[in-house]
Amino acid sequence: MNKRSSIGLAVIGSGRIGSLRAQLAAGHPAVQFIAVSDLDPAKSGALAAKVGASVHGVDNQAIIAHPEVTAVIVSTSEGEHVEPILQALALGKPVLVEKPLALTMADADRVIQAIATSGVSVHVGYSRRYKERYLIAKEQIIKGRIGTMVGGAARVFNSRSQALAMLSRNRHATPVVDALTYYVDLMNWLHGAGCSVADNRLVEVYARGQKGVLKAAGYPEVDDVSYAILTYADGAVVNLGVSYALPEKYPALGHAARVEVLGTEGVMILDDDHTDQLMYSNIGIPHVYLPDHQVNMVFLQSGTPGDWALGEFWGPIANETRAWLDHLSMDKPCSLALPAEARINLEATLAIEHSIATGRPVSLPLAQ
Ligand SMILES: NC(=O)c1ccc[n+]([C@@H]2O[C@H](COP(=O)([O-])OP(=O)(O)OC[C@H]3O[C@@H](n4cnc5c(N)ncnc54)[C@H](O)[C@@H]3O)[C@@H](O)[C@H]2O)c1
Repeated sequence: MNKRSSIGLAVIGSGRIGSLRAQLAAGHPAVQFIAVSDLDPAKSGALAAKVGASVHGVDNQAIIAHPEVTAVIVSTSEGEHVEPILQALALGKPVLVEKPLALTMADADRVIQAIATSGVSVHVGYSRRYKERYLIAKEQIIKGRIGTMVGGAARVFNSRSQALAMLSRNRHATPVVDALTYYVDLMNWLHGAGCSVADNRLVEVYARGQKGVLKAAGYPEVDDVSYAILTYADGAVVNLGVSYALPEKYPALGHAARVEVLGTEGVMILDDDHTDQLMYSNIGIPHVYLPDHQVNMVFLQSGTPGDWALGEFWGPIANETRAWLDHLSMDKPCSLALPAEARINLEATLAIEHSIATGRPVSLPLAQ
């Protein structure tokens, strides 16, 4: 570990997650220069002032091409990831992009093709991997303590306020494509620790859904609840479920989840609902993700990216951002998702929605 390169960082998209990433990066010893952009100049200007960025503006291409910039974080909204990635790759600059990689297979393939042409690295921020309970679960599988993974389950709940915030950015960023994708990734990643690449292929998806309040709110194609069964090439079966239609003041400030992993020699039950960390306040509690949203009761630590405490940000996004910056500056291995894995996650979530729409099982890979 002799390498200690400095990093000049561009952050494209100065919203909630881009701002967090930029603040975290500003505290990393390798980061010597920061430039930020956003479609909205007020947002990039405010973020630049907060993190001491040297350059800010609305022109992504100019920010990415700045001679001091050596690496790029793409934190734009879900439908706006692809162009800044392609711009960075064309200039030979490595990228960390938020999930999902893209919203269509054609766009995901444009990115994969550009990576093959440029030989430049891209990592995708599936930050559940950097929540400690899941990192530790992965370690148990690597150590062989549950034997061969034969199946599992993962279910994630969230309030309808967050579903509506996601859908208002892009109506294709559905709870399945934008949120359940984390648990598709998590299960693929956990399963992959104990089997060969060939055995870890997803071969079939079967799913059912039901509509209700999200349809009534103007998204007729979006289910309130979706359940899927995924089958791997080695026969392992995984049950995934999502509902992002819980009442708007449900106390989770992000993912409330439960993950179960079943092996031939053991089982892991990972309770991630946060119902053990309850706070009720007459004063009201600001929502980490929706700044204009106040609640009286929260499950503490349920914010998906993590939490601010004592002037520092703690949690998955902090761990993940540091791991990527350490990887770039010191060649340290990192566990962020690779674009090929993110493409599989996108394919599986689109297949879940297709299975719900048609009522039929869907074989993977999807026909091109
Ligand atoms: N890993 C996590 O915990 C986590 C949590 C929430 C969101 N996310 C992901 O992060 C991404 C951003 O989500 P967010 O919550 O920060 O959204 P946001 O709406 O707060 O921020 C997105 C920003 O991108 C800007 N933008 C949109 N298109 C742009 C373009 N072409 N060029 C420049 N700027 C552009 C918008 O103006 C906005 O400021 C999404 O992909 C989302 O899925 C990850």
